[in-house]
Amino acid sequence: MPKVTIDGHTIEVPEGTTILEAARKIGGDIVPPTMCYYSKLKTSGGYCRTCLVKVSKGSEKDPRPMPKPVASCRQTVMDGMEVQNITSPEILDARAGVVEFLLINHPLDCPVCDQAGECNLQDLSYEHGHEVSRLDFRKRTFPMIDIGDKIKLHMNRCIMCYRCVKVAEQLCPERVHGVLNRGWDSEISTYIEQAVDNEWSGNMIDVCPVGALTDKTFRFKSRVWFTKPVDAHRNCPTCSGKVVLWYQGEEVLRVTGRKDQWGEVDEFICNECRFDKKKTSDWVIEGPRHIDRHSVISQNHYEELKKLKQDLSRQKKLGEKAHN
Ligand code: SF4
Ligand code: FES
Repeated sequence: MPKVTIDGHTIEVPEGTTILEAARKIGGDIVPPTMCYYSKLKTSGGYCRTCLVKVSKGSEKDPRPMPKPVASCRQTVMDGMEVQNITSPEILDARAGVVEFLLINHPLDCPVCDQAGECNLQDLSYEHGHEVSRLDFRKRTFPMIDIGDKIKLHMNRCIMCYRCVKVAEQLCPERVHGVLNRGWDSEISTYIEQAVDNEWSGNMIDVCPVGALTDKTFRFKSRVWFTKPVDAHRNCPTCSGKVVLWYQGEEVLRVTGRKDQWGEVDEFICNECRFDKKKTSDWVIEGPRHIDRHSVISQNHYEELKKLKQDLSRQKKLGEKAHN
């Protein structure tokens, strides 16, 4: 098994593992950020360059460094390879450049965007972005369109990561949307106003790293940090039926797939679960969803509140036992 060292941490991984997947196995701050790679979608990655790393030693056999930063989601490891991510000032600088580039056309409309609070680009720009933009030109703009009756496409926010196209290719029975044109003019669009309408199309919303594709049944209903995510499942004939219900009070405002620590869904879910099952009685509730404490969504700390209540009742019971 090839051995690779990333920012001083050495790990053995199976042949063919990418630098990014090796870094994810190590975990922590050394994992490069991703905007287009999605482990559950084949051939994803290689479009956005946010995962750039420096290969300071190619391999044991050929220790020459790679001449340019490489996309860690695409580059496989070689035995003896040494990689720098957060320990390389050049890479941090290059990443800031990539963020600036991604933001050239992306509007800074987080205060009115439904993706705010769970947007990969928002997090990325907080961590790696510049405070000011150097762009003097007008950003390109598009009218908002409906692609199907459940999904809104806000093309101004798209960063051309191709994830939604891979969902359409690999999950949906047929693909009726894609990237049209090239360069500055490229855009995600349907062919001749086709509607994206099939039982897996809602997954495009979950994989979109920004607010370009949003759930029309949830848009503008709440800010995500005011909702309470709860794990739930149902017997679904089409998908695994394992979802997250996002509650506000007693009302289920939206249903999504369950995302892992990298922001990728564990399993894709069908549109029936996502759009048509919005009653608590449709679901078997498992309990509060664990939310990373760094996420703005964790601000309500209800998980801890539940634990605190459990601790208090346990203490009470112990006290009563001791008293008796
Ligand atoms: S619409 Fe979203 S998922 Fe599709 S290419 Fe644009 S940013 Fe990526
Ligand atoms: S995540 Fe590697 S190029 Fe986009």
